[in-house]
Amino acid sequence: MQPEFAPRDAPFVKLTVLSKSELAEWCGNATETGRRWVEANGFGAEPTEVLSVPDGSGGIAEVLAGGVSQDPGHDTRFHLASVLRRLPAGNYRLANKLSQQDRDEAALASLFAQYWPSTRRNGRSHSALLVAPEGTDCEKLLAIAEGEFLVRDMVNAPASEMTPGCLEKVFRRIAEANSADLRVVKGKELAVECPMTHAVGRSSEHEPRLLELNWGTSGPLVSLAGKGVCFDTGGLNMKSGRAMALMKKDMAGAAVVASLCSVIMKLKLPVRFRALIPVAENSVSERSVRPGDVLVSKSGVRVEITNTDAEGRLLLADTLTLAEERESDLLVSFGTLTGAARTALGPEIVPFYAVNNRLAGLLEEAGGRVRDPLWRMPLWQPYRGMLESDVADIKNSSSTAFAGSITAALFLNHFVRRRESFAHFDIYGWQASAAPGRPKGGCGQAGRAVLEAITEFLL
Ligand code: BES
Ligand code: ZN
Ligand code: ZN
Repeated sequence: MQPEFAPRDAPFVKLTVLSKSELAEWCGNATETGRRWVEANGFGAEPTEVLSVPDGSGGIAEVLAGGVSQDPGHDTRFHLASVLRRLPAGNYRLANKLSQQDRDEAALASLFAQYWPSTRRNGRSHSALLVAPEGTDCEKLLAIAEGEFLVRDMVNAPASEMTPGCLEKVFRRIAEANSADLRVVKGKELAVECPMTHAVGRSSEHEPRLLELNWGTSGPLVSLAGKGVCFDTGGLNMKSGRAMALMKKDMAGAAVVASLCSVIMKLKLPVRFRALIPVAENSVSERSVRPGDVLVSKSGVRVEITNTDAEGRLLLADTLTLAEERESDLLVSFGTLTGAARTALGPEIVPFYAVNNRLAGLLEEAGGRVRDPLWRMPLWQPYRGMLESDVADIKNSSSTAFAGSITAALFLNHFVRRRESFAHFDIYGWQASAAPGRPKGGCGQAGRAVLEAITEFLL
């Protein structure tokens, strides 16, 4: 499914989003018929209302839609997406006077509005399309929306489809479409290159693997890591049915990296990237990692397994070690690492960790600007003690229930030496309840903010 804008040279209907006071103004300038139509329909510019105003010949003269509160802090994100979902098929042109930033947001909202999960896509064609507002970078927004659709499709796919082999295929397709280079490591080689991914993944009939996608010949090097756990049962520390229900989405980090890579390649950003995706299923079998096992990481650090459900950090740790073999200008990891991140910030705000204040500032600013909300959390060194092990160098989960997302980030930082260029995102990858432009289900998080920050931090 390809998102699109309305063609510039086709007929269109004028669309105006109005607040209540703007509606009064509109009525003041409207024809008698228009004013009476608004009244007769009881249109009050409520955020959920849309009204087609007829022309004299049975067609639509223009469309009015209710606006949203201008209160500071009120979330007006992508409101236009829900307006477009309510409109009949056709081409619409936004008549509002908007700032460039709001025009970009409206344009992106119009693309996000076109998503349907594959199971509900049958026979649907794009309905209401927006003419790209003046000054928007269409190519960039289309690439971003395609990336977002990719994440949603990948995360929404059931684990019976999105197996480690299927995840590999997705990356192969992306690599081939952009003449990039994909390396796949499995079996004995994986046990050497990513021993902890191998250890977690050997529990499943679906072979674990490492995917490495390289692209670009010049420019700063961006290293990306994404947790690719195709299903997380918790392993022998098995999750409850409730906690396990959504665990097909435990590869959302990998999906965000896939989309980020494809956007960077489509836009031909002047950077090089190296994406490392550890892929495994965390299953229950006689080959599962056991609580009390000690794993030797790629870097030689001995890790005591105190909870087999804290598997994501094991996968990412080896990947980060591997990433550090080359000197990158920016190193970013994404993973659905902890439930604690949701307890702290809920499903929509992504906690991130970075020691570099400039990088953190750019990320926060970009996240706010492009409506990909992030919140910086502290890498609070005193909590590092919660990961002290009696039998190994570090343990994979804290003995307390406190600060779970922070301790996961501290664990990862133990495997990173050049921390000044490192940022980690503890994402959720799931829209818990439908919002404008974001139906319930898989969703991209942090990728759009990182895309902006890459440009600002490195170029
Ligand atoms: N994939 C989960 C984290 C998760 C849970 C993400 C719910 C989104 C929603 C991860 O592998 C996990 O199970 N983490 C444990 C860590 C704990 C054992 C230290 C958790 O959060 O409970
Ligand atoms: Zn887990
Ligand atoms: Zn997990």
